[in-house]
Amino acid sequence: MFVSQLSLTDFRNYGSAEVTLKKGANLFVGRNGQGKTNLVEALGYLSTLGSHRVSSEQAMIRQGQDAAIVRARLEHADRQLLVEVQLNRGSPNRAQVNRGPIKMRELPRYFSSVLFAPEDLALVRGEPSGRRGFLDELLVLRAPRFTGVIADYERVLRQRNTLLRSARASGLRENQLTTLEIWNERLVALGAELIEARTSLVAELLPEVIAAYESIAGDDHHASLSNQLSILAEHPDVESDGADGDRFGVISAEEAAVAFRSTLERLRRSELDRGITLVGPHRDDLVLHLNGMPARGYASHGESWSFALSLKLASAEVLRREATAGDPVLILDDVFAELDRSRRDRLATAVADFEQVLITAAVLEDVPQDLRAHTVHISAGTIVEEGE
Ligand SMILES: Nc1ncnc2c1ncn2[C@@H]1O[C@H](COP(=O)(O)OP(=O)(O)OP(=O)(O)O)[C@@H](O)[C@H]1O
Ligand SMILES: [Mg+2]
Repeated sequence: MFVSQLSLTDFRNYGSAEVTLKKGANLFVGRNGQGKTNLVEALGYLSTLGSHRVSSEQAMIRQGQDAAIVRARLEHADRQLLVEVQLNRGSPNRAQVNRGPIKMRELPRYFSSVLFAPEDLALVRGEPSGRRGFLDELLVLRAPRFTGVIADYERVLRQRNTLLRSARASGLRENQLTTLEIWNERLVALGAELIEARTSLVAELLPEVIAAYESIAGDDHHASLSNQLSILAEHPDVESDGADGDRFGVISAEEAAVAFRSTLERLRRSELDRGITLVGPHRDDLVLHLNGMPARGYASHGESWSFALSLKLASAEVLRREATAGDPVLILDDVFAELDRSRRDRLATAVADFEQVLITAAVLEDVPQDLRAHTVHISAGTIVEEGE
């Protein structure tokens, strides 16, 4: 799939803008703060209903205006589709496909993109929650029913924590024990399903991450992934950076459920003392290894950057494999400035076979020649020049 036309109205620093996009590489250049990221953020929003920069949509509406409109013409196999979203201040947002209204949550079904931005460095350097979020977002994109599984797990977790807190105050009574058993079973059933899904996804991502990292850094560099599972940890109640509960490969829901139950049993005392749930997928991590060392805390800046990028490229590969409407559009925001010359050239080769790639850069020369075929210059929220 590719975007052939993008129109913005009162989106961020754009009053009104029209951009024609081509198949293959499209490069947006301009000085800092001119609107390059804003432009790709708009497309990212169409495919995820979210922004990689802000959690509130209000920031995306141009200052002083009441509504922002993002409209994109999508093309796939000689078919065209016009998707549109209107973000409103103080009233519900609206979505349209081919000028007919649709439910907002249906919008991501029509357009798929994978966006890499500087914020993604947190995938490597940041807290486990960011990596869990990365996996869960991809799970949902591939199987929307996981939205429900994740929401149910979180609800059960909150209720179980409430019970643990009140039992901590008064000591576990008979009726609370029965209630705890009920919550345990729900937590285990939902948690085991999530653990199986995440570990299968990691197994699917692994060869793609290895290949992506090699393609950027060279074949003497080896990236790897493992699952750090609190249900398998010796001491899940202790914060550790070690390999406690580290496992490669898929864990079936049945196997996860057995381990989950027995760890809950073993930790009941600690859970009651602390008043929180100490094991389960909400305490798991995706461990990133680079050349046999954990990437977090060991990898250099450029290596961390390359690893985060590899995770995104791998997710694009996994998505494109099952896509019926062609490749997801690959969006690379400010990637090239951070890489050395050889990694830049290698990255250009690695992304060459995607149907469409959108790239932003403050400095044109940072981007390899092959990716400059269609260059759009941006200045102060205006498209000033398009060129070959
Ligand atoms: N809601 C808004 N209304 C008006 N202007 C906004 C709004 N949100 C952001 N901006 C402006 O948009 C500009 C930032 O644009 P953007 O992040 O796209 O820059 P960029 O071209 O990607 O720059 P860099 O090279 O630094 O990444 C800032 O000047 C900011 O003040
Ligand atoms: Mg930017």
